[in-house]
Amino acid sequence: MEEILDLDRYPLNREGSSEWQRLVDECKAALAANGMFNLEGFLRPGIAEKAVAEIRPVMDTRSHVHKRMHNIYFKPSIPELSPDHPALRKVETVSHTVCADQIPGSIVLAIYEYEPLVRFLAATMGKPQLHVMQDPLARANVMGYRAGEALNWHFDRSEFTTTLLLQAPERGGDFEYRTDLRSDDDRNYDGVARLLEGRDPEAKILRMKAGTLNVFRGKNTAHRVTTVEGERERMIAVFSYYERPGVMFSEEERIGFYGRAA
Ligand SMILES: [Fe+2]
Repeated sequence: MEEILDLDRYPLNREGSSEWQRLVDECKAALAANGMFNLEGFLRPGIAEKAVAEIRPVMDTRSHVHKRMHNIYFKPSIPELSPDHPALRKVETVSHTVCADQIPGSIVLAIYEYEPLVRFLAATMGKPQLHVMQDPLARANVMGYRAGEALNWHFDRSEFTTTLLLQAPERGGDFEYRTDLRSDDDRNYDGVARLLEGRDPEAKILRMKAGTLNVFRGKNTAHRVTTVEGERERMIAVFSYYERPGVMFSEEERIGFYGRAA
């Protein structure tokens, strides 16, 4: 892992040392203040390109194309909202997904399963433990976004999302987010409507560099990836960890996300 991750800058392998603790504390502080942290240069120079080269043949020929119209909740309706409420405005998402079972032995999977990373992430999130998923498809995914494609506005299902940007596009494909647009007690539907109409001055854009690890708290922070432009595909690995071991998706979830059950 020494040649893949910059463990000099980010000492994940020295758990319990003062420099490890300092990094955890910085990440925790960033999560509390901004709802995210970024480890730029997490991959050593040249590794993102190598990881992309491993995935590209699968991405080009066997990725699952997901194209759908949806609202920000990914739900057909919200009981307390009339169907024409502007918070339910439909947006389009188009992406290509490569599943973990299609990239055995890859750099991406080696990073996903690297135990010091799993323990470090648990520490930053204030969890006693995290576990890799057992689901052969869902554990780690690589998402591809080509010219004209975007991941549109949504809230996440999980409390934290961990991603690793492998390749940035020439233009567009930026991460845009609106921190704490809602809370567990206040659904703020009018604020949601304002964001969807492009009238929320607090929406921010983050332009990430390839090789950056990002941990993001996306349950109440609306976010999207803007439309990609240019020839180069945006490629990002999405890592799923859970507090309990052995987590699997249901067959319905696998078909819904990946178009196949196994
Ligand atoms: Fe998300």
